[in-house]
Amino acid sequence: MYNRKTIADNIFYVGVNDRQKNLFENYLPLPGGVAYNSYLIIDEKITLIDTVDASLADVYLAKIEAVLQGRAIDYLIVNHMEPDHAGSIGLLKQKYPNLQIVGNRKTFDMLNGYFGINTQLHEVKEGDTLSLGKRTLTFYMAPMVHWPEVMVAYENSDKILFSADAFGTFGTVDGDYLDACINTDKYWDEMRRYYACIVGKFGAPTQNALKKIATLDVQIICSTHGPVWKQEREKVVDLYDKWSRYEAEEEGVVIAFGSMYGHTQQLTEAVAEGITAEGIKNVVIYNVSKTDTSFILSDIFRYKGLIIGSPTYMGGIYPLIEQLLFSIEHRGIKNRLYSCFGSFTWAGAATKQLTAFAQTMGWELVGTPVENKQAVFAQKYQEGFELGQAMGQKLKSLR
Ligand code: FEO
Repeated sequence: MYNRKTIADNIFYVGVNDRQKNLFENYLPLPGGVAYNSYLIIDEKITLIDTVDASLADVYLAKIEAVLQGRAIDYLIVNHMEPDHAGSIGLLKQKYPNLQIVGNRKTFDMLNGYFGINTQLHEVKEGDTLSLGKRTLTFYMAPMVHWPEVMVAYENSDKILFSADAFGTFGTVDGDYLDACINTDKYWDEMRRYYACIVGKFGAPTQNALKKIATLDVQIICSTHGPVWKQEREKVVDLYDKWSRYEAEEEGVVIAFGSMYGHTQQLTEAVAEGITAEGIKNVVIYNVSKTDTSFILSDIFRYKGLIIGSPTYMGGIYPLIEQLLFSIEHRGIKNRLYSCFGSFTWAGAATKQLTAFAQTMGWELVGTPVENKQAVFAQKYQEGFELGQAMGQKLKSLR
């Protein structure tokens, strides 16, 4: 019933796949599901690292039991208290009442608050070690990657980093958990979307955590979501470094538009033509009414250029564009080349407000924002085209 392949000698993957949930944190779409990872180390002290969402506790406990064969767990390392990982702590504690929970002061405050557990605790601080027998774990605090209590554990002999949410991704683990044994193509976009939505606000804390990790010789990364990274470990660290510095991955432009009756969409076509006319190949257009904000946000992390189009709606910006602006501002995305356009019927407001968004974000405004009244005629189409050209030229100047 359970693949007993190990990550290293006597280190087992005991995570589970969630193929049922539609929305992560009840708002982020999960087209490819998600995995909640947990790891079991058999040593003189039997040690479990993180748990899984309570909805899959039965599958999880059975997997653990298949390895333990009646033995008890000595330590539960809680790297992160969000319920997608901490959700099974209460049940584990019932089944293995003598286990000691290892965490930091902030972990224990949450542990008490969620489960009323405040005994048999082993508190660790930055740099503390815990001997399991042959193996030793060293703990490093990683606050705000993604919650304040987050920490990571480093296993010294096989050089394994148990990294909590860091380097995690949406998407189930299908068949094998090790990156070298599966096609990882499907994860890269989903890893960025995960980062953008879950960790994206916390660029500076992520940079702090990466600096600590850089001092370690890490051969294997065991995150709480998605594959175990061995072959691709350097790539995932590089991606996290880039994203947490808000540096674009490649040349390109996202155009996100809202349109009630097609006029703002016509301007979108004009702007896109202008960009490609300058030789920029990556132009990604999103109709905010059709695509969930999380996917748009992910590509905004990917590309340097962003152009937003909105009709004027009740004297302001189209509601779904407002939602996108909120998500961008909330993540504090830096260093984007930006422009905007919009349309109105009797009194324009959206383009002016979108223009002011450049200042809100501290971004460079590229070209001249275009505001169109009613139908789009040749002159406005040309202005849209020229706006796209300006963005294309600006991007080329960075080559
Ligand atoms: Fe996967 Fe922040 O929990």
